[in-house]
Amino acid sequence: MQSSVSKKRVLLIDDEARVRASLKMVLEPSYEILEAPDAQDGLTAFRKDEPDLVLLDVMLPGTDGLAVLQTMRSETKMVPVIMLTGAKSLKTAVDAMKLGAADYLSKPFDVEELRIVIDRTLNSLELEREVKQLRSQVVQRYAFHNLIGKSQGMQEIYAKIEQISDSRTTVLVTGESGTGKELVAKALHYNSSRRDRPFIALNCAALPETLIESELFGHEKGSFTDATARRTGQFELANTGTLFLDEIGDLSPVTQAKLLRVLQEREFTRIGGVQPIKVDVRIVAATNKNLDELVRKGQFREDLYYRINVIALYLPPLRNRGEDVSLLAKHFLAKRVEEEKRPHTEFSKDALEILTHYPWPGNVRELENVVEQAFIWSKHTTEIVPEHLPALLKGDTRSSSLHDDTIAGRMSLEKAVMEFEREIILDALKRTNYVQTHAANLLGISRRMLKYRMDTLGIGRPDSGAGTDSDQDLVVHE
Ligand SMILES: Nc1ncnc2c1ncn2[C@@H]1O[C@H](COP(=O)(O)OP(=O)(O)OP(=O)(O)O)[C@@H](O)[C@H]1O
Ligand SMILES: [Mg+2]
Repeated sequence: MQSSVSKKRVLLIDDEARVRASLKMVLEPSYEILEAPDAQDGLTAFRKDEPDLVLLDVMLPGTDGLAVLQTMRSETKMVPVIMLTGAKSLKTAVDAMKLGAADYLSKPFDVEELRIVIDRTLNSLELEREVKQLRSQVVQRYAFHNLIGKSQGMQEIYAKIEQISDSRTTVLVTGESGTGKELVAKALHYNSSRRDRPFIALNCAALPETLIESELFGHEKGSFTDATARRTGQFELANTGTLFLDEIGDLSPVTQAKLLRVLQEREFTRIGGVQPIKVDVRIVAATNKNLDELVRKGQFREDLYYRINVIALYLPPLRNRGEDVSLLAKHFLAKRVEEEKRPHTEFSKDALEILTHYPWPGNVRELENVVEQAFIWSKHTTEIVPEHLPALLKGDTRSSSLHDDTIAGRMSLEKAVMEFEREIILDALKRTNYVQTHAANLLGISRRMLKYRMDTLGIGRPDSGAGTDSDQDLVVHE
């Protein structure tokens, strides 16, 4: 039985006092009962007392219960109405259901049946509300206000997202690593009318050529050695929604050609299949490479480039976004504080100063990592001070200070080792003009290992991404 605090309100509209009294007696322990003897009082109570559910008699003096039902439904669809009908009025019951009644009970009904119907109605309503709420939470999470930043650059991005989110036009999102390209792709989707449809993300750089194709288009059973079952591709899964093609600059020439065909025809065939499949998919592509340049070098098809570069969204590097650094840092900190239920924690003035003067080659992702580290190191205080920040940010790149800090107990060995590794990797990258293969050679590790360590340490790659102000040319190929 429900506790009295959470008792639901049931409004009972019936002209017979005897019926009201007996219903009230059986329902009272579980629900709060409001009573009305006629349509007018019933509607007044409906509007004023905000019941959770209505029990409405079909035969009311001077008024048809169905008319009352109609009025209620026109005012709100949130309150379910259960009709109480006469024994032989199946037609009325059917009419009531057509008009939007949640259910009906034929008189005389037994108490148990009445309880079951009421409970079921209230439960399914609750469920519906929960689903709606969850859905709107997901939508909100990727709506704009999830993108933090009020710099001129970000304001322009918001304006563009607003303008283009609702069309099916292909969008190319460019910008250095860690600038928020994926977040923007999601914002485009969740601000469009496709928001309730799938958002499918595919990282073109993460899969070998053979797999990419079956990943994109799917395959029929037996179409190649490993194809033991039919597989639905991402294009099909994204139908009526958005397909986010990340790192599109890494697609092989063969896959580029196939992708071009889908973009032109809006249809494709599964590998090993014959039947063309039509899809309605909005494409958002992203890359941190300079596609212009790849086209010039013959590594990216020009025709495909024009197909995807219909609308370009360029995300400026964090170092050009001024005030956004402290805004983002505070945002990431507040998020972690809340997640870990720590007392309110802030950055000291000097700590903020350091954050805002650092050039952030790894952009927002690097900032997020730095805040995470600072959050961990500042566990027993409520203020993040420069000591909690990585040495690199303070222009303090001498490993001897790491050594001193560790020996003096100001820094854990684990953190010192990470810092040291970070410094060396950054140094190697700078010396080799950010050509990762060369930097890896210098360090005596594989490029894959280098990439992995860079990701772990939150080191980004300043590159020449369309229109950046960086003068470092990044060409990374195995
Ligand atoms: N404007 C922003 N507001 C809040 N968080 C952001 C913002 N931009 C980026 N982030 C966060 O920074 C991280 C990196 O963002 P994202 O993955 O979108 O970058 P990216 O441009 O796709 O990087 P890459 O080129 O390396 O794939 C994510 O955790 C993202 O949530
Ligand atoms: Mg990305």
